[in-house]
Amino acid sequence: MGGIFGAVCSRGIGLDVVTTGLKRLLYRGHDGIGIIGLTDGKFVIKKKPIRSDKALEELASIELTSKVLVGHTRFATHGRPSLENTHPLLDCGGEIAVVGDGIIANYEELKDFLIQKGHSFSSRSDFEVIPHLIEEELKNGEDFTSAFLNTLRKLEGIYAIAVLWSREDKIYGAAMGEPLFIGKGDECFFLSSDIPSLYGFSNEAVIIGQGQALILTPQGYTVLDVKTGNVIEELVSKRVKYPVELIDKAGFPHYMIKEIYEVPEAMLRAIAVVQEKYLNLVAMILHSARDIYIIANGTSLHAGMIAGYYFRDLAKLNAHVISAAEFPFYGLENVSIGTAILAISQSGETGDVLRAIKEAKMRGGVVIGVTNIMGSRLTLESNVYLPIGAGVEMAVPATKTFVATLVVLGMLSHRIGVLRGIIDKSDERAFVERVKALSSTLRRELDKIEKIVEDSVKIFEGWDRCYVSSRGINFPIALEGALKIKETAGLQAEGVETGELRHGPITLVSNGYPVVIIAPYEKEAKASSWKVASSVLEYGGRVVSISPPDVDVVGYHVKIPETTKFLSPIASVLPLQLLAYKLGVARGMPIDHPRALAKAVTA
Ligand code: F6R
Repeated sequence: MGGIFGAVCSRGIGLDVVTTGLKRLLYRGHDGIGIIGLTDGKFVIKKKPIRSDKALEELASIELTSKVLVGHTRFATHGRPSLENTHPLLDCGGEIAVVGDGIIANYEELKDFLIQKGHSFSSRSDFEVIPHLIEEELKNGEDFTSAFLNTLRKLEGIYAIAVLWSREDKIYGAAMGEPLFIGKGDECFFLSSDIPSLYGFSNEAVIIGQGQALILTPQGYTVLDVKTGNVIEELVSKRVKYPVELIDKAGFPHYMIKEIYEVPEAMLRAIAVVQEKYLNLVAMILHSARDIYIIANGTSLHAGMIAGYYFRDLAKLNAHVISAAEFPFYGLENVSIGTAILAISQSGETGDVLRAIKEAKMRGGVVIGVTNIMGSRLTLESNVYLPIGAGVEMAVPATKTFVATLVVLGMLSHRIGVLRGIIDKSDERAFVERVKALSSTLRRELDKIEKIVEDSVKIFEGWDRCYVSSRGINFPIALEGALKIKETAGLQAEGVETGELRHGPITLVSNGYPVVIIAPYEKEAKASSWKVASSVLEYGGRVVSISPPDVDVVGYHVKIPETTKFLSPIASVLPLQLLAYKLGVARGMPIDHPRALAKAVTA
């Protein structure tokens, strides 16, 4: 992610205009602020590669007045938070600047091409290719607008950008999968990554459609179709009306529900952020390892458990999945040269994980990190890492990062399977296509699922405990659902393998005891699971069944989209995240900040 806020005015404006906008966009990125102004044909650039809220405080004392100002809050996906990697990024001549939100998926090949052409790069950011590509186009005699459009046509990925050329008082922009809006003030036109941040600057926000570019001047704006270069006349706008206090939650009452609604986007971002080079490298390390440990805590551990199923089914690899807290006692002593440790942590700062990998590296193990936070200690201390690119997650209960982690682990497992000759390249491609299809189905159906889940809350009335149960590849989802309900809703929720329910836990089931059952995907497990569900009803329990529409279920039915075995954990976890949220709201819990928990347990 990342946030962009800019203005082009017929008079000079102060830095406070841009910092006000950026403050409201902090939810989009916390890894540093960069601001660029244009005065008499010269750029003035201020960068602070520290936590963005602190950076804004420090920038408040700086005086900068300009007719063209653009600011950026960074979410680091390529290149750790540092001065060089903080946007804006410049071309070789220092005349073209870019700030960007999202991911340029094919930047490596573009960078190689540009280096061959003699360009030199000063950052590791994927966005730096943009000013160099435009510079190259200008060298070939193109005017700036054509150079800009030609550059956009070469880029793959999901992104939005703002570009400045020091010879013009204009902002060039483009929305290619990430949002961008124009605001109209009295003497200024604004550009921003969301509508609420325009509050107080403009009464309406013009939506820049996907695949569209724009040119903003002090007098107005032009929107162009990137493919054809044609001017787009019919533009849609919305009123800017969010109350300021809700701005950074984009109108949602809590971060958690906002982030659940960001799951479909996080799935696509996870695909885009994975770089071929590193996917191959990690696949090769795991393929040739003598033994593999997957270590993580909490929600990330549940993702790791699912990776255990993926590795076995897709690559015929057996991995030991173990809590990072437990690993030092039962695992570490077996680590030596030839051991690979896959360490998963969305924050990249979890103490148990960091302690475990430090020891494992000392014993000769190779550490592969999987994380959402670039520049986190996990990225610094792993031998190699894969980002998940989910965007900032503010709520303590992890939701979209869990799903993005599953997508990346699924892609990795397919790559190892291909490498080991267990599956075909076409299976790997089909997986990515199915992730995309599931993302758009969920985008369409999420509010329907939310309504059904909300209705199921009545089953829990009067109860402060419940079971969440499944089997096979969805068993870790039962554990994850129970964890989410515990931390968000304050219920004593227990995740139980469905067969195991009969071996003890069922004795507590009576008088309406709530049991959530997630349909197993494995054919042979289905019938026996519904038999157990029926006995829950017989003993007086109440059942919420999470399953695709065409399955015969027991109890209250929460329908989820039909998908494949490997993606069924994603389809199943969303209703559980929503259930935890709805129960938490109904019980008046502090949703985003559960008692005694922090986003990263660093100690
Ligand atoms: C779940 C949750 C925790 C974290 C755990 C690991 O909602 O908040 O269980 O999943 O502390 O955190 P990371 O993934 O940052 O290592």
